[in-house]
Amino acid sequence: MSDVVLTEREGGLATVTVNRPEALNALNQEVLERLASTFAELAADEQCRVIILTGAGDRAFIAGADIAAMATLSAEEARTFMELGQAVCNRIESVPQVVIAAVNGYALGGGCEIALACDLRVAAEQARLGLPEVTLGIIPAWGGTQRLPRLVGRGRAKQLILTGRPITAAEAWQIGLVNQVVPADQLLPSVRALATTILENGPLAVRAAKEVLELTKDADLPVGLKAEVEAEVRLFATADRIEGMTAFLQRRKPVYQGR
Ligand code: COA
Repeated sequence: MSDVVLTEREGGLATVTVNRPEALNALNQEVLERLASTFAELAADEQCRVIILTGAGDRAFIAGADIAAMATLSAEEARTFMELGQAVCNRIESVPQVVIAAVNGYALGGGCEIALACDLRVAAEQARLGLPEVTLGIIPAWGGTQRLPRLVGRGRAKQLILTGRPITAAEAWQIGLVNQVVPADQLLPSVRALATTILENGPLAVRAAKEVLELTKDADLPVGLKAEVEAEVRLFATADRIEGMTAFLQRRKPVYQGR
């Protein structure tokens, strides 16, 4: 049987592919556990700096939690399954690397929630995104009711969550749900180009920027501003900061060492 989650490495870049195309990459317990262990391993890998997350095939990023698997769950079993889905989203959101969702097709329900946990989202033109849970008699419970309004605002989030109707990639871009929309055949090249742009930046700075953004996302402004200064002070003590500024003044490209 083929592996349900594939990982490819190339320099500082890792590409993680949910590989269940026959079920439009729907997430059952096995896939969720593999995603959790994959992101835990990558989190600990100092060489890895950007992670692309995508789905196998050309139809779906992830068409949601596996409805066949959920259909037989008791209420208490549902709690365990929802907590596992939340744990996977939390882990994706909190890895020190930048995570880019390459949304190659349907990103529905849990698939949309996984994409919301990523730092950046790039969608193929034919992708459809949405939270159709209420059409099944449930609600988005892997963070959808929390991360979507924080990203696009409460009114737009309510539109998606209460109607359950998916939107096009272009509509998703208009409301800020995705960062970029590209033709399907340009998706992976565009995402790799985005990854390369990030990889060329100071690695400690990129990591610190994500860390401050994540740690302070629910903080009051004074707390957030303090965290920002503390991180900046630590960066000023690094060789990379000196290299970045010296290279600018010498009109050359910086060569960062990650220290
Ligand atoms: N869970 C389990 N299986 C799923 C799935 C999901 N979330 N989404 C798709 N699949 C399976 C289908 O059951 C089908 O399997 P089969 O070939 O064994 O019958 C296969 O993937 C292909 O899907 P199909 O529905 O035949 O494709 P389609 O082109 O007609 O429709 C979708 C595509 C995405 C619109 C449709 O599959 C869909 O609505 N999926 C559920 C989306 C959803 O509600 N997700 C949120 C769950 S909380």
